[in-house]
Amino acid sequence: MSIDPNRRRVSLCPPDGPNQQPPELSHINAFLRGALRVSAAHGLNSRPIEATEHPLVAGSQPQTEIAPAFRVRGLTKTYQTDGIAVHALRGVDLDIATGELLVLVGPSGSGKSTLLNILGGLDKPTEGDVFFHDAALTRMTTSDLTTYRRHHVGFVFQFYNLIPSLTAVENVRLVTEIATDPMSPEDALAMVDLTDRIDHFPSQLSGGEQQRVAIARAIAKRPEVLLCDEPTGALDSHTGIVVLEAIERVNRELGTTTALITHNAAIGMMAHATVRFHDGKIAGIERNPNRQPANSISW
Ligand SMILES: Nc1ncnc2c1ncn2[C@@H]1O[C@H](COP(=O)(O)OP(=O)(O)OP(=O)(O)O)[C@@H](O)[C@H]1O
Ligand SMILES: [Mg+2]
Repeated sequence: MSIDPNRRRVSLCPPDGPNQQPPELSHINAFLRGALRVSAAHGLNSRPIEATEHPLVAGSQPQTEIAPAFRVRGLTKTYQTDGIAVHALRGVDLDIATGELLVLVGPSGSGKSTLLNILGGLDKPTEGDVFFHDAALTRMTTSDLTTYRRHHVGFVFQFYNLIPSLTAVENVRLVTEIATDPMSPEDALAMVDLTDRIDHFPSQLSGGEQQRVAIARAIAKRPEVLLCDEPTGALDSHTGIVVLEAIERVNRELGTTTALITHNAAIGMMAHATVRFHDGKIAGIERNPNRQPANSISW
């Protein structure tokens, strides 16, 4: 396998020819084939997926079949702490459609972050499988998972994790300098409506503005997947809504498959679906046929 500096052109054959591929490369090549298809479909210029044609929206008539970005099957995660087993996930099955905005809710300790971390390649399950397109994340090596995270996943956490000694644009540039096909840091910050703050240091930004810099940093490499763990958890409702508008815009305009954890069920109004967790299992999935814009949500 060789990877062109531009990751959208990937040679699926090793330099020695197509028959020389070691068996251990077959899964990562399957992964890259899937990634290629999605990269082609989700460039900045691609047509956004409208809510009305989304396959998961009840009553809609999808014009095209959209393959799942993720297929989660029989996922369990058991932590062993001082000889005591903690069952964080107890058998989770879930499909997440490409381009979907999914909200995950549930009590503290119900397994939401554990699932998000496994989807993002930060953690591995005890049993079960997660497929990202054709690739089984759960069978990848640590190095393959690093490649997956680096090229395909953006993370946003409750606490923004910005570098205090760098300005907003410099914080975003940290990522764009190592990405293979990024947007400019200025464009990423424009997407979250921060053009007039790009030279501010984190200490000169409000909490909501800092979170929007974190979102710009996460999406500047044009990831196919955006994983947000309580992105509004540290914000008041007005500021939280501005952050949600940024996430909504990224999902709509870049077609980024998005999973967002929250303790605020009202946020489900902007999503294609809400997944409810309870005690390590999915207790229910509610499709949302009447998505509302983020700025109409209040709590
Ligand atoms: N690294 C770990 N080691 C041991 N136990 C863990 C670890 N990470 C999570 N757990 C346990 O797994 C369970 C699920 O945790 P998880 O963080 O997924 O919950 P959550 O739904 O995200 O909760 P919250 O809403 O409080 O963030 C909890 O009981 C937690 O204590
Ligand atoms: Mg959590």
